[in-house]
Amino acid sequence: MSPSPTPPFVPKQALGILANAVDVYEKTGGKVTAQFAEEYIKLVSPFPADSVIHDNACGPGTVTRKIMATSPLPTIKIVATDSNPAFLSHVRAAVIANKWPVEVENMRSEAVALPNDYFTHSFTNIAIFMMGSAGLDGATEIYRTLKPGGVAVVNCWQTLAWLEPIKAVQMATRSPGRAGKAPPVSWADGTQLRKVMVQAGFKEENITMSSSEASAVAKDLHSWAELSWAYLGGLQGWAQEDEDRWDEAIDLLVAKLQEAVGTTVDEDGIVYMEASQHMLIAKK
Ligand SMILES: C[S@@+](CC[C@H](N)C(=O)[O-])C[C@H]1O[C@@H](n2cnc3c(N)ncnc32)[C@H](O)[C@@H]1O
Repeated sequence: MSPSPTPPFVPKQALGILANAVDVYEKTGGKVTAQFAEEYIKLVSPFPADSVIHDNACGPGTVTRKIMATSPLPTIKIVATDSNPAFLSHVRAAVIANKWPVEVENMRSEAVALPNDYFTHSFTNIAIFMMGSAGLDGATEIYRTLKPGGVAVVNCWQTLAWLEPIKAVQMATRSPGRAGKAPPVSWADGTQLRKVMVQAGFKEENITMSSSEASAVAKDLHSWAELSWAYLGGLQGWAQEDEDRWDEAIDLLVAKLQEAVGTTVDEDGIVYMEASQHMLIAKK
């Protein structure tokens, strides 16, 4: 029997925080993705009685929750899918507690195990850029599983007040060679979002794009920074130096967040950090 591969290194501080990964997500990024979802659900609701809706890469069920908050007709059906079992367990618990008409399935968005022309609506909230072939494999499945006449909504980050602070901390606390690697494709100007949807089959004339703003809110910026660093700091991999320099990284992140473009503080000391989305609505 071959030995099992050594798991990647994760700093002990991140391990402690990510033991409650769903909770951390809900306290940080999830608050912002919920505002994005609310924005476009307003545009595409109400949902007809026979709606079959995909909450694709559902995370903690952000889109499902926003749809259910519109008090839809009881005959609609939602299928919530993700590849992360921790998120799926969280959604299943909410479905049972609230008696929602939702099926929860472990599925990769690049290989949705459902027939062609299945959904009337397909929502992919802040996830397409994580999918294969720079998003195209996810877009292809969105197109395939949507009924003719159905509506797909996909979005990506446009701006994020905490992006430059995170990069600055990576540069300052990591050895040369580890820090500062740019992602292979930039989604920030919205071009890639439109490109993959057109390549997947949606016609240019059936696509509309717009933007909207949201904000992350932190009563305790140090805590918000630590949770966010545990989540985002290791996306390109962790190393021992990140554990050794953890406290320094968090202090620096707090300072960089305070001075970032898009950060404001109100009279009660509550910190608001802006983010915006490119929102694409396409009809098949
Ligand atoms: C930023 S979260 C967004 C979650 C949720 N849609 C929301 O609005 O809060 C990205 C989600 O995409 C999921 N994900 C990433 N790549 C995936 C893939 N290839 N197939 C299925 N889910 C994926 C992650 O597990 C995570 O739940």
